[in-house]
Amino acid sequence: MCGIVGFIGNEEASPILLDGLSRLEYRGYDSAGLAVYGQEQGVQVVKAKGRLKGLSDLTQGGATVHGSLGVGHTRWATHGAPSDINSHPQVSESGRFAVVHNGIIENYVEIREFLQSKGVTFVSQTDTEVVAQLLEYYYRGGLLDAVNKTLNRIRGAYALGIICADHPDMLIAVRQDSPLIIGRGECFHMLASDVTAVIKYTREVSYLDDGEIAILTRDGVEVRDRYRQVVEKAVSHVDWEVSAAEKGGYEHFMAKEIMEQPEAFRKTVFPRIKDGHVLLDELEFTPEYLKDMDKLYIIACGSSYHVGMVAKYNLEKLLRKPVEVTLASEFRYCDPIVSERTLALVISQSGETIDTLAAMREAKRLGARVLAIVNVVGSTIAREADDVLYTWAGPEIAVATTKAYSTQLALTYLIGLHFAEVMGAISPESYARIVSELLLLPTKMESILEQRDSIQYFASLYFNHPSIFFIGRNVDYAVGLEGSLKLKEISYIHSEAYAAGELKHGTISLIEPGTLVVALGSYAPLFEKTMSNVVEVKSRGADVLGLTTGTLYDAMVKTVDHAMAVPETHPMLLPSLDVLPLQLFAYYVALQRGCDIDKPRNLAKSVTVE
Ligand code: G6P
Repeated sequence: MCGIVGFIGNEEASPILLDGLSRLEYRGYDSAGLAVYGQEQGVQVVKAKGRLKGLSDLTQGGATVHGSLGVGHTRWATHGAPSDINSHPQVSESGRFAVVHNGIIENYVEIREFLQSKGVTFVSQTDTEVVAQLLEYYYRGGLLDAVNKTLNRIRGAYALGIICADHPDMLIAVRQDSPLIIGRGECFHMLASDVTAVIKYTREVSYLDDGEIAILTRDGVEVRDRYRQVVEKAVSHVDWEVSAAEKGGYEHFMAKEIMEQPEAFRKTVFPRIKDGHVLLDELEFTPEYLKDMDKLYIIACGSSYHVGMVAKYNLEKLLRKPVEVTLASEFRYCDPIVSERTLALVISQSGETIDTLAAMREAKRLGARVLAIVNVVGSTIAREADDVLYTWAGPEIAVATTKAYSTQLALTYLIGLHFAEVMGAISPESYARIVSELLLLPTKMESILEQRDSIQYFASLYFNHPSIFFIGRNVDYAVGLEGSLKLKEISYIHSEAYAAGELKHGTISLIEPGTLVVALGSYAPLFEKTMSNVVEVKSRGADVLGLTTGTLYDAMVKTVDHAMAVPETHPMLLPSLDVLPLQLFAYYVALQRGCDIDKPRNLAKSVTVE
């Protein structure tokens, strides 16, 4: 969703803003803009609907807009269609204030009417314009005073970057429920929605907390809390390389990230296994707590939710405790049954998804202890959870997640094994077998990725199908959900995933000659059951693409049109292997269809509005 970047220093701001915005492109956007203050020109605003390239062309890469203070924005439209006028920065009537915003100002209608009654003319349909106009309305020469009064008046979720023509030595950053970080350099400072936008310039960052305002100057940063008291902010060092957020020779970030999965898995899992035991030093769960736990409530959105679906099957089997998986957007409003004996497992790549964050806060309010699985270090969910386990996947840029999904899955295995051992719920033999299989997974993942040509071939056969179904049982069904989501996200083909046994209760009516069904039959205990459903769709004319394991391959290939086998592993770990062909299938189908794979239409990487 919207990306924000701001710069104050001694160099030209525009090229730096454009570069920062290009690194935030992955968040998803439909227009872009920047505002730069120049001593002679005042506040100059350039905006363009569409891709960032349009803005870059308009400004000749920033060369035509001079000044060393500015803010930039990529907009994902919420209020008002994508257009030049609705793009940010939004400016006040006099042109003195320019504002970029991520989030939603909930009471913007009321403020807009109030300001209109005072004679203010609005030009856009955005909620953001009220912020720029309110700043002007309250402005009597003191910038901070106007900012404070404006913040007292607005309600909602927002990260703001503000510049004012009368104060060319100040860049204001404000955060309330939308992510914002400060990049600290020598004689320059930056604000941004996330570290990818500043990493080329500085690795020293501070994370703003809700209610805080930061006043950035060329030489320093002053942060004030919600009571406007000055607070000391910790400075964190970002240790990944700029190249981690670049394509490294691949045509798309998604392809690169798919190929990085074995390594990301190793980084996430191997340091946490010593002498055959899972060591989660970050966690302190006693046998008493775990035995007394009444329920594990998994809360997440999108693919992270699909990780939760796999985890439910595995954790219930390992721990013999009820596991409920819920979409974060539903959890918030369903009056959930949570007690002080409930453990909420919150899963989020970004650590900023607004529904997941709000659900986590609700779970805490109701007394649950929260364990979070997060990829982005220092993100809000990571900071607010009681316990956090990081997936060491590195930055994930493609909107459609792949390596974050795989590493989240890996951590659910570790959590299951660790809890089961602490509770004494698993035999040493079973435990040892799963751990040893876990260590073999990355090599097996590599062997699947090496077969990507055959998956590209399948994609070339089916890329024109209007509708594709995924069926499977148990963990195969949970992986099918992710395979189907990947496909629809990036190829725009209609797709649904069904528990194979549920087909007969409706979906089978959609099967006709030529419909493609991807049948997942890796989970051996239910292979025959799934194959019965495969026969049912075959006899109605469906084309079937099968996915199974080496030992079951012969039994499957007789019935389906094409089949592919993944290596054998413990049934609990199969999803880590099965998901790879499905990701590759989605990727190659989308490639064949000429889709914008890394930035699919209408989607955002980090969904920071409800
Ligand atoms: C968006 C992304 C998905 C992601 C979901 C949840 O929809 O496109 O890839 O799974 O948000 O995001 P999170 O950061 O909370 O895992």
